[in-house]
Amino acid sequence: MLPPDWIDTLQRHISRKSRITVLTGAGISAESGIPTFRGPEGYWTVGSQVYHPQEMATFAMFRQRPDDVWQWYLHRATICHAAAPNTGHLAIAAMETLLGDRFTLITQNVDGLHLKAGNPIEKTYQIHGNVFQVRCAAACSPELHSLPMDLIGRAKEASLTDAERALLTCRRCGERLRPHVLWFDEVYDERYFHFESSLQAAAETGLLLIVGTSGVTNLPNQVAWTVLRKGGTIIDINPAENPFSELARRSPGGTVIPLPSGRLLPQLLHAMQQEMTGRSQP
Ligand code: OAD
Repeated sequence: MLPPDWIDTLQRHISRKSRITVLTGAGISAESGIPTFRGPEGYWTVGSQVYHPQEMATFAMFRQRPDDVWQWYLHRATICHAAAPNTGHLAIAAMETLLGDRFTLITQNVDGLHLKAGNPIEKTYQIHGNVFQVRCAAACSPELHSLPMDLIGRAKEASLTDAERALLTCRRCGERLRPHVLWFDEVYDERYFHFESSLQAAAETGLLLIVGTSGVTNLPNQVAWTVLRKGGTIIDINPAENPFSELARRSPGGTVIPLPSGRLLPQLLHAMQQEMTGRSQP
């Protein structure tokens, strides 16, 4: 059962018709079996060298070792493809249905689980891209394409075959295709990563729910600080203390809920539904 002050905060924003924004990170997908970024499962071994995600997920590494980078992403895509949305994802999809146009979802996750749970792609700001989409590495066109599903399910250690490389070749210019994800040596933009749209939503947000992120990336920090500066309320949902925990405590009526999102989000949804249906009853 949620403490009364959390319920009050939620219901105040529901009744005020505030914009409610949810910002998610890898933690929401942990309960679906997808390793978080900064846990030990994120590392990758090439030969005798162990690489951190921050080294693999760069355009520079892709230029040097495209096959190794693809092997890493195809392994992650295979894990993501096998994963199912958990109760946390499903609760967020239900919040979207309940709140309609005053709900915004911003996600750092590239696993596609929010879309699988039912959040519509046009209202889901995938600010780090999506591992099931590809685009031309030479940027001969801005088009996004679906990752060929024949590449899913391959053995983690298997080197790319010529047939697989052919599937990962741009039909327009013959250059390599690359994963449609934001790399550490690249920058956010509006066209691919909803940069301005995310900050615009933050500026209108009365209540920001931050779920399962360690708070180390740029745009999520700008979103949270924008909400704080505009006098919005921040609730940080994460079993571990992180930079967003302090922002939440500083925000009016904000709080930190150190519980797993899969358990907590359905309770927050229930409180929202009660407020929406309860108030509308005669
Ligand atoms: P991290 O792996 O850095 O952080 C995951 C967070 O989720 C941690 O703070 C955990 O405490 C928390 N967590 C774990 N299980 C949870 C649960 N059941 N419920 C709630 N929280 C839980 O992942 P991110 O913060 O998402 O960027 O990383 C942000 C970005 O860094 C990623 O999108 C990626 C990486 O660079 C790109 O790929 C561009």
